[in-house]
Amino acid sequence: MEKISYQNKSRTSKVELPSKLGFGTIFTDHIFEMDYSSEKGWHNCAIKPVENLSVHPAAMFIHYGQSIFEGLKAFHTVDGETVIFRPESHLKRLNNSAKRLCMPQIDEVFVLHALKELVSIEKDWIPINSGESLYIRPIMFGTDEILGVHPSKKYKFIIMLSPVGAYYPEGFKPVKILMQDDYVRAVRKGVGDAKTSGNYAASLLATEIANQLGYTQVLWLDGIEQKYREEVIFVEFENEIATPKLTGSILPGITRASVIQLLKDKDYTINERLISVDEFIEAYNNGKLKGVFGTGTAAIISPVSEVTFKDKKMVINNGEASNLAVELFNEITEIQRGNSTDKHNWITKVPTEVAV
Ligand SMILES: Cc1ncc(COP(=O)(O)O)c(C=O)c1O
Repeated sequence: MEKISYQNKSRTSKVELPSKLGFGTIFTDHIFEMDYSSEKGWHNCAIKPVENLSVHPAAMFIHYGQSIFEGLKAFHTVDGETVIFRPESHLKRLNNSAKRLCMPQIDEVFVLHALKELVSIEKDWIPINSGESLYIRPIMFGTDEILGVHPSKKYKFIIMLSPVGAYYPEGFKPVKILMQDDYVRAVRKGVGDAKTSGNYAASLLATEIANQLGYTQVLWLDGIEQKYREEVIFVEFENEIATPKLTGSILPGITRASVIQLLKDKDYTINERLISVDEFIEAYNNGKLKGVFGTGTAAIISPVSEVTFKDKKMVINNGEASNLAVELFNEITEIQRGNSTDKHNWITKVPTEVAV
């Protein structure tokens, strides 16, 4: 295993968190960083104070988007422990993204060790109130300084941390979403199932338009026919809960996987399958659509109050979060807070003392 060098890990002043934490606006004062070259593999592994990067203007990721990332969270439990939610799954997904973008694999065991060390050093930055957390953002990008399009031979990997506020500071709040067929986010066999920067750039315009129309988010449809829903979203039909199957253009959400597991534990009929817009509208018209919610690390469960497609406005469950959405949100947060049994081993404890 690579050795981590620890540079200036102690801080001179006490960490003071602002009373209102937003999302991703403040950062802790240390990062984990390592470099890759085809000759040396991963090397220069260090936990060190945050500093600006110096990159050549020809760096590969700036021009050709060889850039991937992850997003996961650490929490304080009610017993005062520090835990990370499903880090192994996130690092595995990072390696899947790396493979798709022709980037090198990381050693998941070593990087998990480095992540735990970093979070331990930065534990004073973890906010303590319910719903607040330490957001963990690993990134990897190609740094070759050549303009020809090719897989980079040099990479940087960084883990940065950001204390974040509760997603629903005023209570669980359903959102309005716009189902539209003017733009698509990704196509099957493309890079939709990789967490790569370009997918997010591709989503901005449609999201801006939806925001201007008063919707929080876009509900993406498939890139070929714009007929099927493609999101980490769950639909409560009368006798079944369905979520779009992973066709290659959907990011395999870790919260999605956790929700599927919890639903199976409760003996719900949960099917991963294609859900067409027509089926959705028909179920709505026949009163067979009981609830809709999205899943993701940031919000955990995001209940949907309204779905609009063209001139059809569908108010879901009278605009309220369904009982199931509330139940799942509570179950996952209770596991994260250490209030209920972690029977699927989703929680990784962070040591209180670092190795050196
Ligand atoms: C495009 C996209 N889909 C789904 C998700 C939800 O995935 P997860 O539950 O792993 O956070 C995210 C957030 O990471 C995302 O960016």
